[in-house]
Amino acid sequence: MSSDSRFVPLVEITDTKPNMIKSHISSAVKFLPLIFIFTIASFVANAQIPTDPAAVAAGKALFEGNCKACHRVHTKLVGPALAGVYDRVPSVDWIKNFVKNSSKVIASGDEYANKIYNENGKTQMTAFSSFKDEQILSILAYVKSETDKGPEQTTTPVKTQVAPGGEQGVPSSYLNVILIGMVIILILLLIVLGFLISAVKRVLEQKDLSEEDKDVVESKVTFGSFTRSSGFIFVVTFVVAALGFKAVINGLFSVGVQQGYAPKQPVWFSHKIHAGQYEIDCKYCHTGVMKGKNANIPSPNICMNCHNQIKSGTNTGEGEIAKVVAAYENNKPIEWVRIHNLPDLAYFNHSQHVNVAGVECQTCHGPIQEMDVVRQHSLLTMGWCIDCHRKTDVNTKGNAYYDKLVELHNQSKKTPMKVEDIGGLECSKCHY
Ligand code: HEC
Ligand code: HEC
Ligand code: HEC
Ligand code: HEC
Ligand code: HEC
Ligand code: HEC
Repeated sequence: MSSDSRFVPLVEITDTKPNMIKSHISSAVKFLPLIFIFTIASFVANAQIPTDPAAVAAGKALFEGNCKACHRVHTKLVGPALAGVYDRVPSVDWIKNFVKNSSKVIASGDEYANKIYNENGKTQMTAFSSFKDEQILSILAYVKSETDKGPEQTTTPVKTQVAPGGEQGVPSSYLNVILIGMVIILILLLIVLGFLISAVKRVLEQKDLSEEDKDVVESKVTFGSFTRSSGFIFVVTFVVAALGFKAVINGLFSVGVQQGYAPKQPVWFSHKIHAGQYEIDCKYCHTGVMKGKNANIPSPNICMNCHNQIKSGTNTGEGEIAKVVAAYENNKPIEWVRIHNLPDLAYFNHSQHVNVAGVECQTCHGPIQEMDVVRQHSLLTMGWCIDCHRKTDVNTKGNAYYDKLVELHNQSKKTPMKVEDIGGLECSKCHY
């Protein structure tokens, strides 16, 4: 029951003096009926709200997926802070109706609904007409457990788990160190050789040599004769050919690779503000990630859920948001420049990776929530896909689809089942 705290004064009595106790008890007795009425009232009001951890967990997921874009438990965002909301609204049933269709409740002339509607700048809350009563109650269960915890525990830092998606192969700094080392060794060798030659010459000059041999010993090696020698010409040709070959190969490999691509967008939309500072869930805007191949870019009416109230931004004033409003009012899409783009021959599906495999967006897209302008974080090459399929375990927990496969796999191999073991390297999985 939620009303334990109301009896706290009675417990404190034990450590006061006897005569005090008497007066405390008599005043407590006087208030008992009142306490009783309050308890019953709040019990009846909150009785429907479940308290079991399963409901709280389910409510948390629903809240984060649907409500977090506009509500926090302890702070006001687009909508009011929801802490203790079940105590201030007319009834829990009222919340059910309001969440399912707030404009209907407001239009019915409901006094409380009209009051908060006006207080919040007449912002329309999204209608969740498909929600079942239990779902709304579980959201309230989550809100209640957060309310009871108090504001401190609820601030969880934004997760930034970035896997090594970017760098591949030998880092170029290593290559440079190796190259410089080799050049130094070569120069040392040349110096030693020079000493050897002059030593040998000195020895030979003291000897009695034939005319022919003397010619050879005294002949000067000139720059001209050196560059004309066949050995030199061979070495130079070889080095030039090797460098040219490497440049061509590198060029071929980077055809179509656009890592770091960060074009200027028609509206200064910042993920750092929306996904970072205001912690709006990626799925609120990129609605396709759990269901299908494409993540989807939100249309202006999703932006307008908030921007029919928020008309000016800290960094850009009114100009940029006005563009969004204009696009919405003229029913014209905003022409975002596409950043990530695989060639048509490759097939990539978001829900397979996000929903089934449980891979975080940041693993492939980097710390998007820190970017004012989105840039392509990963290579997006075939090698990048394959590399991850070799290294990553399949997320089989709680997925009955994999039970049989895991069993078969464990009979033959000791290592955990990787994506490659379920066919993640087969050409036809990624190529049409
Ligand atoms: C698009 C923004 C938005 C979303 C999404 C949203 N709300 Fe709201 N909510 C509001 C606004 C704004 C108000 C204030 C009333 C109004 O303007 O209609 C509000 C009011 C409320 C109230 C009454 C608050 C009070 O202080 O009395 C409850 C309860 C509520 N919302 C629950 C929810 C739940 C549960 C969800 C998710 C299922 C949700 N809201 C999603 C914007 C939103
Ligand atoms: C408020 C809505 C909104 C939220 C929340 C949001 N995004 Fe976006 N996202 C957009 C818009 C609009 C674009 C297109 C403009 C741009 O590229 O900046 C976009 C673009 C992107 C792109 C590049 C798409 C391309 O063209 O290749 C990626 C990747 C992305 N978002 C990932 C994320 C991730 C990850 C999160 C959560 C951390 C997130 N987004 C949260 C609205 C949103
Ligand atoms: C869930 C609420 C919400 C949604 C949805 C939303 N925004 Fe915002 N937006 C905000 C908040 C909050 C701010 C910060 C306002 C401020 O700076 O005080 C903001 C700021 C902005 C700014 C101004 C930034 C600045 O600092 O000048 C632009 C531009 C913007 N949003 C565009 C968009 C676009 C485009 C979309 C749709 C793809 C979108 N927003 C969707 C809540 C939202
Ligand atoms: C396993 C890697 C991976 C993960 C995880 C991932 N993405 Fe993507 N994302 C990609 C690739 C690859 C593309 C390019 C797809 C194409 O061109 O067909 C892409 C494209 C996008 C785009 C551009 C539009 C589109 O639909 O192609 C957006 C937006 C986006 N991702 C958002 C997200 C969000 C939000 C998440 C997390 C919920 C996420 N991505 C998780 C790899 C990933
Ligand atoms: C961060 C790691 C990661 C990256 C990067 C990645 N994948 Fe995956 N991929 C996975 C995981 C994990 C699964 C297993 C999902 C499951 O359980 O079905 C998977 C599964 C798949 C499947 C289904 C395989 C099957 O046998 O059912 C395809 C197709 C696929 N990925 C394509 C791609 C493509 C194309 C790319 C590159 C553009 C890519 N993936 C990049 C982790 C990754
Ligand atoms: C995990 C997904 C995946 C698998 C498995 C896969 N590929 Fe690819 N492949 C890709 C992606 C993504 C690209 C596009 C890379 C790019 O644009 O740089 C690609 C590109 C290619 C290209 C180059 C086309 C071009 O335009 O450069 C060829 C050829 C190719 N794949 C053949 C194969 C063959 C043969 C197999 C089987 C042995 C295979 N692929 C398996 C994802 C995959």
